[in-house]
Amino acid sequence: MDGASAMDPRLYRQFCELAHRQAGIVLKEGKESLLIARIARRQRALGLTSAREYLDYLEADRTGGEIVSFLDVITTNFTSFLREPEHFEHLAQEVLRWVKGGAKRLRFWSAASSTGEEPYSMALTLLEALGDAPIDLRILATDLSTAVLAKARDGIYDEEALEPLPASQKLRYFERVADGDRQLYRASEALRQVVVFKRLNLRQPPFPMRGPLDAVFCRNVMIYFDKEVRQGLVGAIEGLLKPDGFLAVGHAETLTGLQTRLRAVKPSVYARPP
Ligand SMILES: C[S@@+](CC[C@H](N)C(=O)[O-])C[C@H]1O[C@@H](n2cnc3c(N)ncnc32)[C@H](O)[C@@H]1O
Repeated sequence: MDGASAMDPRLYRQFCELAHRQAGIVLKEGKESLLIARIARRQRALGLTSAREYLDYLEADRTGGEIVSFLDVITTNFTSFLREPEHFEHLAQEVLRWVKGGAKRLRFWSAASSTGEEPYSMALTLLEALGDAPIDLRILATDLSTAVLAKARDGIYDEEALEPLPASQKLRYFERVADGDRQLYRASEALRQVVVFKRLNLRQPPFPMRGPLDAVFCRNVMIYFDKEVRQGLVGAIEGLLKPDGFLAVGHAETLTGLQTRLRAVKPSVYARPP
C-alpha cells in the first residue's frame, strides 16, 4: 500500500498526528495522495524509498532538522502583497488615530508571514501613512517554515508578485535587481529596516515577545488549526495586544466559538476593548 499513489490509512494517521503535535496543523482526511506528493522530495533527498521509511527517519531524527523540512513541505505558503486590502486600510486609519493621540512607538506582528509579502505590505502602509513623523516603528514577522523565512529575508520578488501594488509604491519601496533576463525587485532598505524576521511556532504559546503590541495580523493560518490550537493562539494574542489594539484574521476565518474579550469591529478585524 506504500506505493506512489496510495498510503496505508494507519500510516497516514501517524503523519497527521505528527503534524498536529509539532505544528497544530490538521491534515484533512482523504488527502493521502497530496501528502505523498509533498514528502516525495524529502524522500528523494534522503535516499528513502517509502513513506514508512520516511516516517521512521523523521521520528528517529534527534537533531530536529528533518521535522523542520517536513513542516516546510506540508504547509501552504500562498500569500500576496496587499492581500485582503481592507486590513491595510484599517491599519493606516488606526495608526493615524494613535499618532494623533500621542503615540511615538508602534509595534506590530505578522504572525504567519510566509514569504514576506504581508509584513512588507504592513511596512509600506505604515511608512506611507506616517510620512516624516518621528515614530519608532517595528514589525516582527514570524513563520514556522525556514524556507519561506529565507525568501522573506531576501525580499526579492518578480514583476507579477508586485502587481497588486500601486506603481508609485512599487517605485518608492522596491529596487530593480538584475537576474539574467529576468527583472526582479528587492524590498528597499526603508522597508527592510522596519521588519525583523524570526522563526516561531504558533502552536506553542506563550510566545517570547513582550507586549504590548498595537496590531497583529494573523491571517490565513488558523484555518489549518483545530479549535484547541486556535483558542491557545487567540488567548496569547489577546494578552499581547494593547487595549484598543487590533487583530486581523483572514476573511475565511473567525473567532466565533472561541473565548475571547476581543470584539469584532469590522469583518475579520477584532479589537481589544480600551
Ligand atoms: C497561507 S500562508 C498565509 C500568509 C499570510 N499571512 C497571508 O495571509 O497571506 C500560511 C503560513 O502559515 C505558516 N504556518 C503554518 N503552521 C504554522 C505554525 N504552527 N506556526 C507558524 N506558522 C505556521 C506557513 O508556513 C505559511 O507560511
